[in-house]
Amino acid sequence: MNVNGRHYRTIWTEGQGADETLRIIDQTALPHEFRTRALGSVDEVCRAMRDMWVRGAGLIGATAAWGVWVAARTAPKDDFCGFVARSMDKLRATRPTAGNLVWALDRQKKVMAGLSGEKAVRAVRAEAQAIADEDADFCRLIGEHGLSIIKEAAARHPGRPVNILTHCNAGWLAFVDYGSALSPVYAAFDAGIPVHVWVDETRPRNQGASLTAWELGRHGVPHDLIADNAGGHLMQHGMVDLVITGADRVTRCGDAANKIGTYLKALAAFDNGVPFYVALPSSTFDFALRDGVRDIPIEERGADEVRMISGLSERGRVEDVLICPPDTTARNWAFDVTPARLITGLITERGVCSASEQGILSLYPERKDA
Ligand code: MRU
Repeated sequence: MNVNGRHYRTIWTEGQGADETLRIIDQTALPHEFRTRALGSVDEVCRAMRDMWVRGAGLIGATAAWGVWVAARTAPKDDFCGFVARSMDKLRATRPTAGNLVWALDRQKKVMAGLSGEKAVRAVRAEAQAIADEDADFCRLIGEHGLSIIKEAAARHPGRPVNILTHCNAGWLAFVDYGSALSPVYAAFDAGIPVHVWVDETRPRNQGASLTAWELGRHGVPHDLIADNAGGHLMQHGMVDLVITGADRVTRCGDAANKIGTYLKALAAFDNGVPFYVALPSSTFDFALRDGVRDIPIEERGADEVRMISGLSERGRVEDVLICPPDTTARNWAFDVTPARLITGLITERGVCSASEQGILSLYPERKDA
């Protein structure tokens, strides 16, 4: 996507040979500042993931893949395999819900099998690049498939924009490029279909307010920021035509983990007959799991993300403020699971299917025995 006249992906390398450096957009600085950073060590890559300089399912996977490259090129010669294995364990522990993280590390593990030293460095570099390119490509295809859903909604409501509600940020910032939930929105906007997006603020970290609103604004897509609890009211009053969210991990039966609060939007959509779609590349499926509520691990983050809020002060400085009594304790589950029965369809790089084992396997028959 373009920022200040330059095309950016969310993760890339700069330089050649020994000087080649991994770079990312520091998403904690948005929307107030566009800042990029270099990541030079595995510990720094882990910190970037844990502290959410990078975040979002696809980007977490791509960052982990590049993190293995960083591990391999900084590993001591006399403990190459041990160092890389320990680094992979550290990377794996950063964001437990994201299916793409496990998937990307498993891919790197396969590529490295039996290799060490320079050969291993070259192999994991090529695989990290392939994972990043595939992520961008798959998200572009999700846009093409999702476009037909938005076109159908536009035909049902001629003469006014299609109103789409989204939760959290599943745009290009959450992937290497394009995004999942927002990719069809960008495709529709670019095709001249009038669209308008309701952007859930997405407490506690406000990815909707700070990232989705920023992305949509830069692309010129009309949108309004809404309080997290407004969606149900809008649906009751016919102000939402479609909900499209992303996903962090989806079971083989179609249960979808996504940012906390997604389940409540799905319930409201179900009650009001509003189509509820989940957009994801196949790297987000966890074919080993069936029951998402029971089996998807849910990340619990620090209490201060709930107790505090961050924003630009009148003095022009980004500041954190406490929003509760100082001795109030808090809990902070980062994701919830929307059961497949509440999901109208899954938008993938291979097309749209029902949120069911049969629907998913109709697009991914090779995963039948996975
Ligand atoms: O905690 P985050 O910001 O890494 O959460 C990920 C998300 O942005 C959402 O859950 C998103 O809808 C799925 S990732 C494409």
